[in-house]
Amino acid sequence: MTAETYAEIWEGGLRNDLREVLFDVETLETRIAELGRQITADYAGREPLLLGILKGSYPFMADLSRVINLPLTVDFMAVSSYGAGTKSSGVVRILKDLDRSIEGRHVIVVEDIIDTGLTLHYLRETLRGRGPASVEIASLLDKKIVRKGKELEDMDARYVGFECPDEFVVGYGLDFKGRYRNLPFIGVLRPEVYAHELS
Ligand code: IMP
Repeated sequence: MTAETYAEIWEGGLRNDLREVLFDVETLETRIAELGRQITADYAGREPLLLGILKGSYPFMADLSRVINLPLTVDFMAVSSYGAGTKSSGVVRILKDLDRSIEGRHVIVVEDIIDTGLTLHYLRETLRGRGPASVEIASLLDKKIVRKGKELEDMDARYVGFECPDEFVVGYGLDFKGRYRNLPFIGVLRPEVYAHELS
């Protein structure tokens, strides 16, 4: 799909719910290709397991996996994080576990965004307890600013696409109440959309 095709498809309609676009199609594509090159070099001679965290990671997982030139396998986990709103509940639950054992595997957890860091902190510890050769994190976005001076400040991912401002963002897998995951870019919702949805 070209950037022109996306531009044509996403003129108006759902796109109008966004106040601004933070990361457009080409910006995402370019950065993800860089991450792919980095992972390809770092894991040369190994066969990593890409572990996508549902649902938010699905576009990133698809695009990232196609720019890693190595034999690899994929698996998915689903965890609960925010419930239906925009604030973290602080409770992480595994809703869908892995299909296979990760013992001895080089695991790369693929996530859409790190916010408080709670989800990935919990996941990383859980996975480390299952005997993998290594566990690293690839997160498309990181709201590093949110964790500054807090307990999980060091919850850093080895691979990060972009630092994200402290705004609630949607698109490219990220949702608000289940919607907007299908936008091919990432942006900030207009406040009227929140007000309307929350009333
Ligand atoms: P954490 O546990 O606070 O780091 O939250 C991680 C999860 O919260 C992500 O995987 C997302 O599902 C969700 N999340 C955090 N920030 C946003 C956002 O700005 N937009 C949409 N979802 C978000």
